[in-house]
Amino acid sequence: MDRESSHFARSVAANRRYAIGLSWAGMALLAGLVGTDPAHAHDERAVALLHQYRCYVCHANNEPKAGPAYADVATYYKGKAGAQSRVAAVIRSGAHGAGPWHMPPHPEVSKADARTMARYILSLRR
Ligand code: HEC
Repeated sequence: MDRESSHFARSVAANRRYAIGLSWAGMALLAGLVGTDPAHAHDERAVALLHQYRCYVCHANNEPKAGPAYADVATYYKGKAGAQSRVAAVIRSGAHGAGPWHMPPHPEVSKADARTMARYILSLRR
């Protein structure tokens, strides 16, 4: 009887530790979802813009579609001076390189929005 009750007490203590561990995990998860990190909020805005302007019709982050994968754009511009401004300018004015397709101009995109998207695209380097 004595042995059983002490065993019971031990498992209650173990359960309580487990519950405390879980609630910490829950809080970390919530902090992630709410997006307290400002860089993260910036990314969400950029992704919303990329959807709004239908960029993902021709582009994906990690694989080429009609247009190059954004991760490959980021690799190409790695270490180049003024990369963010140059990519922002291409977004608004379009581009026609060696490929069969061209990048249509987007004059309706504000300079600020173009820079937000450019910054995000350049962060995707793999
Ligand atoms: C109709 C399809 C299409 C749409 C819509 C489109 N793109 Fe493109 N994009 C392309 C193609 C094709 C290229 C490659 C152009 C080339 O050959 O240089 C390209 C190239 C790019 C590049 C690389 C430019 C460089 O300097 O190499 C970036 C950045 C880019 N697009 C961003 C965007 C963004 C942001 C949007 C939305 C505002 C967008 N694209 C919408 C087809 C598209």
